[in-house]
Amino acid sequence: MARTTIELRIKRQDTPTAAPYWEEFSMPWRANMNVISCLMEIRKRPVTRAGQKTTPIAWDASCLEEVCGSCTMLVNGKPCQSCTQLVDKLPDAPIVLEPLTKFPIVRDLQVDRTRMFEGLKQVKAWIAIDGTHDLGPGPRVSESEREIAYAFSRCMTCGCCMEVCPQFNDRSDFIGPAPLAQVRLFNAHPTGHMNARERLESIMGRGGLSECGNAQNCVEVCPKEIPLTEAFGELGRQTTGLWLKKLFGG
Ligand code: SF4
Ligand code: SF4
Ligand code: FES
Repeated sequence: MARTTIELRIKRQDTPTAAPYWEEFSMPWRANMNVISCLMEIRKRPVTRAGQKTTPIAWDASCLEEVCGSCTMLVNGKPCQSCTQLVDKLPDAPIVLEPLTKFPIVRDLQVDRTRMFEGLKQVKAWIAIDGTHDLGPGPRVSESEREIAYAFSRCMTCGCCMEVCPQFNDRSDFIGPAPLAQVRLFNAHPTGHMNARERLESIMGRGGLSECGNAQNCVEVCPKEIPLTEAFGELGRQTTGLWLKKLFGG
């Protein structure tokens, strides 16, 4: 039978330290609804399925087109972007929404992903420039290199890969898959290559590349299909090369 109502079960938490609790909601089905449109419906009328008034759900979103990554949450236990997760692609059963578990909770479905951005700072995930004056066209990049760079440039820091990585947790210093992959991107850039050694050094110590257990969960969930494990293989070659160079005084 076709779906006529949408049921949601949402894990809520009022403050970063408060105890979590669950609330259930129900709303009429409409074609092409995604998870965020359901949350917007609840915001218009924050009343639970049992008819009790409650507070609107807090969640993050910005682009609404799977570019910013900020709306990432667990939908039926799987990390994904709530802005593009269509209700009709989910089983006709209560849809369970939870915040990501690897980042501190701010409120309800909002999490604080600072740790991932600190990782990007640690690896200098940018191209250094010495001014904004016109430097003319940059060095030519081959088509094959451009293709690889494009794949890695699609990372939207959504955190799905960090969520499923067994090595990334609050008991480890592991920097996690997303920042590591950006080392691969920026070291391949003709200008970014000037800082390649610094980037490699930043992942050669504690919490770096060697803490990846190669479980490959990350590559399976990345919504942008970024070849994360290929990046780790290439970074392994680059860090070994640098280690040998240093061994011989380079
Ligand atoms: S390969 Fe496994 S351990 Fe390494 S970053 Fe990916 S999920 Fe984590
Ligand atoms: S690598 Fe993929 S899963 Fe990880 S943060 Fe970037 S886009 Fe998200
Ligand atoms: S709101 Fe930007 S990815 Fe969903």
